[in-house]
Amino acid sequence: MSESPASVQEVSEGLREVGYLPGASTALVSFLATKLGKPVLVEGPAGVGKTELAKALAKYLDRTLIRLQCYEGLDEAKALYEWNYRKQLLRIQAESDDAGWQDVQEDIFGEEFLLPRPLMTAISSPEPVVLLIDEIDKTDQEFEAMLLELLSDFQISIPELGRIEARTQPVVLLTSNNTRELTEALKRRCLYLWLDYPDLERELEIVRLHSPELDGTIARKLVEIIHQVRELDLKKPPSIAESIDWARALLLLGAGDIDAETFKQTLSVIVKHRTDLDMVAARVGVTLEAPADAHSAA
Ligand SMILES: Nc1ncnc2c1ncn2[C@@H]1O[C@H](COP(=O)(O)OP(=O)(O)OP(=O)(O)O)[C@@H](O)[C@H]1O
Ligand SMILES: [Mg+2]
Repeated sequence: MSESPASVQEVSEGLREVGYLPGASTALVSFLATKLGKPVLVEGPAGVGKTELAKALAKYLDRTLIRLQCYEGLDEAKALYEWNYRKQLLRIQAESDDAGWQDVQEDIFGEEFLLPRPLMTAISSPEPVVLLIDEIDKTDQEFEAMLLELLSDFQISIPELGRIEARTQPVVLLTSNNTRELTEALKRRCLYLWLDYPDLERELEIVRLHSPELDGTIARKLVEIIHQVRELDLKKPPSIAESIDWARALLLLGAGDIDAETFKQTLSVIVKHRTDLDMVAARVGVTLEAPADAHSAA
């Protein structure tokens, strides 16, 4: 049975129950999305939980998740539907010679010869689904324009078949890393959610959720360091994904503390550019060196 939340609070708790810790605006916008039937455009830096939010919503709402991963050059045939040419051809060949072209034509442009792709699957599903259109900024503007018809009317026009209207209202999430500015027309049709790096306490909670075995003091220190590192002017600051990976790495290595040595060893788990590595080692690594070491080195 698909859920229909009655309040923001309910959504917030529901998402937590499936392992996603939402900020206040995330819970609010998610609630509104289920009520208003408007798509949500989720923007923010890499690794802050944009994709995961869609997965968590699907789990919480007990709906199937249908995902369309966008990439450069993605077209309607891969996103909406395609005619099954091979099957059509076989159908034509199987037809006895005396059947008129009219009959065959009516036949081969029926639903049976259609290959539904994610957008059409979402629209025609008899059960309401969660539709994730991931990394929409990777597609071009023509594709965006095509999405507009879908997102405003929840319908698809197929020239040979007519209109296919949504039987149920999907919850739609579009994510973007902002590699290009999306059109105003698209933004106007969406609710907007900006996901940013979480504050210290929530990030700690997220890390502990993913690695409950990690010692509490180390987990806190980890998150504090991550926040310190984010303050620097890096090419690619560490995201929640890196915090989680770091926690896992420390666990695997059996680290009892994050001292200068451990930090140096595991630095590449959290920063992944040559210049960033140098800067973080110089600015944050040194602060972890115990004063005793400094004396003995002198
Ligand atoms: N609020 C949260 N609660 C629990 N886990 C989270 C939360 N936010 C992020 N995560 C975790 O962080 C990791 C990265 O999240 P996700 O893949 O959704 O990022 P993203 O924003 O889609 O990144 P990208 O832009 O690179 O695709 C995942 O493992 C996810 O489980
Ligand atoms: Mg993602």
